Amino acid sequence: MLLGMRVCGPSTAVFRPSTLRCLSRAHRLPCRELTCSPRQTSRWNRQVSVTPRDSPRVLITGGLGQLGSGLAQILREQYGKENVILSDIKKPPAHVLSSGPFVYADVLDFKQLRELIVNHRITWLVHYSALLSAVGEANVALARKINISGLHNVLDLALENCLRIFVPSTIGAFGPSSPRDPAPDLCVQRPRTIYGVSKVHGELMGEYLHHKYGLDFRCLRYPGVISAHTHPGGGTTGIGSSALTQHTYLPR
Ligand SMILES: NC(=O)c1ccc[n+]([C@@H]2O[C@H](COP(=O)([O-])OP(=O)(O)OC[C@H]3O[C@@H](n4cnc5c(N)ncnc54)[C@H](O)[C@@H]3O)[C@@H](O)[C@H]2O)c1
Repeated sequence: MLLGMRVCGPSTAVFRPSTLRCLSRAHRLPCRELTCSPRQTSRWNRQVSVTPRDSPRVLITGGLGQLGSGLAQILREQYGKENVILSDIKKPPAHVLSSGPFVYADVLDFKQLRELIVNHRITWLVHYSALLSAVGEANVALARKINISGLHNVLDLALENCLRIFVPSTIGAFGPSSPRDPAPDLCVQRPRTIYGVSKVHGELMGEYLHHKYGLDFRCLRYPGVISAHTHPGGGTTGIGSSALTQHTYLPR
């Protein structure tokens, strides 16, 4: 669990609609104080008063990876099919298309992402796009782009549009010098992969933006997660998943 921001334990990782509203601190900030980027200087959305009956409008980026479609299924059962939009840069398989809304969204394309958020009246963003550890090490420049520039795009848009944002981190955010058994939440984090470095950056950016602007940022360090329905995305856990697939325990 990460301190200093609003954090959910694994059992409460799904957002609750009753608490959905922009943090008032963010609204009190004059736009000119948002000095980092011109994007952040656009007006904040007005605070919407939300009753528990109102459903969030959720966008999942990188939703065709290992974890996105499973999460979409759970959220759709809870908030309605039309309120949960899966997105990715890959072509969706037929069963994904028929299970609910899907749109193309490249997290490196800020303008297109903004359009999507505005047009679909998004209120919650689950940011799953990433290059995982093994793939990231094979293409560090691309991993830096997707995992860091892509993250900045969604963080800026979350601030601009007053979204609640969830960005998973990973146990890969620790490194060989981190204390073990168990590793404390707050400790030395010196990962040696670009994936780990980008995730530490994400944790710190979220914490910073929460304290500075009241961004509703949530984060959970996932362990290795293997899906029974999708193929591995290039993390170290993919090795286990691939082994299972080869032995036909998982659908190919
Ligand atoms: N699966 C795990 O074991 C695990 C563990 C810890 C953390 N996480 C985190 O959870 C999240 C989801 O993990 P996953 O296993 O589903 O990953 P995955 O690699 O299976 O999926 C990532 C998705 O991101 C998409 N993507 C790549 N570039 C993109 C871009 N420019 N714009 C939009 N989408 C793009 C890919 O097409 C892919 O579908 C990631 O942030 C990951 O770091 C996963």
